[in-house]
Amino acid sequence: METPFDVLIKGGTIIDGSGAPGVRADLAIRGDEIVAIGDLSGDLSQLTATDTVDATGQIVAPGFIDVHTHDDRLLLECPEMTPKVSQGVTSVVVGNCGVSLAPYSGKNDPPPPMNLLGTKDWFRFDRARDYTEALGATPAATNAVLLCGHSSLRASVMDDLDRAATPGEIHKMIAMLDEALDAGYVGLSTGLAYPTAFAAPTEEVIELARVVASRGGLHTTHMRDEEDLVLDAIDETIRIGCEAGCASVISHFKVCGEQNYGRTHDTLAKVQEAQAHMRLDVDVYPYTASSTILLKNSIDRSERVMITWCTPYPEMAGRDLSDIVAEWGVSENEAVDRLSPAGAVYFQMDEQDLQRVLANPNTMIGSDGLPHDQIPHPRLWGTFPRILGRYVRELGVLNLEQAIHRMTGVPARVFGLDKRGTLAPGMMADVVMFDPDTVIDTATFDDPIQPATGISRVMTNGRWIWQDGQATGAMPGRQVVRAA
Ligand code: ZN
Ligand code: CU
Repeated sequence: METPFDVLIKGGTIIDGSGAPGVRADLAIRGDEIVAIGDLSGDLSQLTATDTVDATGQIVAPGFIDVHTHDDRLLLECPEMTPKVSQGVTSVVVGNCGVSLAPYSGKNDPPPPMNLLGTKDWFRFDRARDYTEALGATPAATNAVLLCGHSSLRASVMDDLDRAATPGEIHKMIAMLDEALDAGYVGLSTGLAYPTAFAAPTEEVIELARVVASRGGLHTTHMRDEEDLVLDAIDETIRIGCEAGCASVISHFKVCGEQNYGRTHDTLAKVQEAQAHMRLDVDVYPYTASSTILLKNSIDRSERVMITWCTPYPEMAGRDLSDIVAEWGVSENEAVDRLSPAGAVYFQMDEQDLQRVLANPNTMIGSDGLPHDQIPHPRLWGTFPRILGRYVRELGVLNLEQAIHRMTGVPARVFGLDKRGTLAPGMMADVVMFDPDTVIDTATFDDPIQPATGISRVMTNGRWIWQDGQATGAMPGRQVVRAA
């Protein structure tokens, strides 16, 4: 007798990612696809499923889509993708904040913040296609969704980043971007707050965003300002989206600095107003500390600064900047100069603002984890279980169906991903099983490299990639492109 199902997940509560309430049902998978959902207990076929898994007491949901990552290199270097897989993530969107590992055709080490991903040894993919071929040759456990970074383009074609690109340089950037879209990239990311792109005028971004719009892609942005001028920065994002005609995502939506606490009332209102006439979405990570390279102007806005990596003094990773300043007996400026290049965590946000952004309908979840930091921000390992444990179960800021919708169905729609983000017959079999009563993050600022609790099994494209608290070693990940 022919085996009708390869995997049968029995007796769980299915939350399908659409926002609909959970239902008790079985889920059947054949090959890499979901083939049936419902009460399959009367069906003889279950007797011949090769792999039957009891999900009693568990939630069965679509694998989570981490919409904001810097996992471009991790996919190749550590394809088990343990920081993400252990959270139930089955797809990562890479190349955010204007920084993509590929394409980059510069001859030298890339400038900060591109060095978050490594040195020139890693930035070895002159063409987007070189990177997608590398991913195809050595697949990871998770799927990958690719964005082309504006700063990577600038650093490829410009000798001086402290100015606007010339028409000739824009022409070259457009050629690289076009090639990336040909290779299945879903859009462009910008990081206008960073030194690699701060001098880029809005018009430069609009020209690139037009190319993306003409191919149905989107623009994600780490905006020019997340502090006093955050409303102006949102206006700029809206202008780019409207003039280019492309869907837009504001990355790690927040306001920084004590004098700005409470301003998410205004920033969310502005976004909601724009949503009436354009496609604009936001993502967030569930912490009140940010993390990036060590930058002087970010320090002024922070209650506390912790070093996450440091090239000249690696032993300073994990220590507070104020302690280093005291120990060295130098000014803060001097200490930053000595420590650089380095990375840091900045405690600079308000919990109420965070909860307001989380309560906002359709806010997506993106970890913004920095996988190559020595003492990384705990968001790298904790983001998704923290939403489910702390913000759903403990604080009730959103309910479980909404939370899962924001981690699955919403990002699949926003990024236009083919056959992902919901559980239904015909969809790809990306699945997570977790215990809603125990799921929680365990990674902390002091001890950030810790897998979460309560994620019992994770499947990508029909193959288990995580079970019994560890990676299975299967590497079924694929590049996910936009639905035709
Ligand atoms: Zn960013
Ligand atoms: Cu980022």
